[in-house]
Amino acid sequence: MKLQGTMRINEAGHLEIGGVDTLDLVKEFGTPLWVLDERAFRENCRKLKEAFASAGDSQVIYASKALCTMATCILVKEEGLGLDVVSGGELHTALAVDFPVEKIYFHGNNKTPEEIEMAVKNRVGIIVVDNFYEMELLNRICQREGREQRIILRISPGIEAHTHEYIKTGQIDSKFGFTLPNGQALEAVKRLSDYPSLIYTGLHCHIGSQIFEMESFAHTADVMMAFVAQIREETGLVTTELNLGGGFGIYYYEGDEPVPPEAWVQAVMPCVKEKAAEFGVPVPRVVVEPGRAIVGPAGTTLYTVGSYKDIPGIRKYIAVDGGMGDNPRPALYGSKYEAMLANKANQPPEETVSVAGKCCESGDMLLWDVKLPRVEPGDILAVSATGAYNYAMSMNYNRIPRPAMVLVGNGQADLILKRETYDDLIRNDVVPARLR
Ligand code: LLP
Repeated sequence: MKLQGTMRINEAGHLEIGGVDTLDLVKEFGTPLWVLDERAFRENCRKLKEAFASAGDSQVIYASKALCTMATCILVKEEGLGLDVVSGGELHTALAVDFPVEKIYFHGNNKTPEEIEMAVKNRVGIIVVDNFYEMELLNRICQREGREQRIILRISPGIEAHTHEYIKTGQIDSKFGFTLPNGQALEAVKRLSDYPSLIYTGLHCHIGSQIFEMESFAHTADVMMAFVAQIREETGLVTTELNLGGGFGIYYYEGDEPVPPEAWVQAVMPCVKEKAAEFGVPVPRVVVEPGRAIVGPAGTTLYTVGSYKDIPGIRKYIAVDGGMGDNPRPALYGSKYEAMLANKANQPPEETVSVAGKCCESGDMLLWDVKLPRVEPGDILAVSATGAYNYAMSMNYNRIPRPAMVLVGNGQADLILKRETYDDLIRNDVVPARLR
């Protein structure tokens, strides 16, 4: 397993994160346990912020869908980034920690009237309008509230990114945004003149997630700038903001080669500037909204090894006390992860095993064919790069409670998410009188 962030192997031969021995974490908080490396999270924010600051007028916002908790929203606030929310729940979390509302972007392809009202009443900075229905609804709510709302339009630019089918979003056949190639996007801009409460600020697009090729982003910037010019020509509207989404790939597994933020800036910013000059339009402020690149590498999950099953000549399964409930990504996308035994971090690999979860489903496998020291019940398995879209997509399948999450840094560990209890699982159950 590649050691990321502040991970190291300590004198006791244990995996340490944020200056804390992971075995001490296990003793104090139990397993499964999500561990968030504070310094890695903050450094990822800072590196992005610095790279973009050097590129001129720009802004980095954290896509909170990757991991949204009150603590992570506070870290983002402290690092001075903006925040992308996609639901009333994420917005509520941000508001609960007094996140500066002017730096909040509200996304979503089907915002409910209640969610839109919540955003407008709380004076969210930008609403990313996804479709004609929303445009009408938002304008009506703004009029009722006597407010004007800055908006950007979500555009589906018709670009195929090389990533998993379920996480690519820029192609024409997509549920998101106004389609560019068929003229729908231009129609949307023109229709804005019917909606006086909506202040046109700019455009948004997001071509997909876990992307490594800079050409995909550069091409997107070219396509979007051509549209910026067309908008200026046909409507006179000036695009002051161009949000190019998130999607920067991270290291999960051998062969993943993340591109540093500076390389993104170097690949994309010149396209924006050159096109602006070519078309004679002002250079818009460039906004990016990575989620995974900030929180993914900062997360590690600790599990306790339990049962095993050896099928001689075929494979050895070992099972851990979590699985697809706390990390549905392998089952959903076939995602690959790396792992190590946190309590035998110094020992050489001795056997190849596959790691199963405890859900009642054959598809609940976390890792295939991983080389580890001899595995015994009670060992602590650490899986790296689980910060993004693990807690965020976790579930209670088989009524397994969700793990706790701790924030580690400078030798200190603090709980940021309590472990669910069995009582939490039945808290919302209602037994009607006739069943009692
Ligand atoms: N902006 C928009 C509009 C998005 O739809 C997304 C991700 C992001 C930003 C952040 O993308 P990131 O930088 O994190 O790649 N559950 C999937 C990922 C779904 C991504 C959805 N949208 C996974 O586990 O891989």
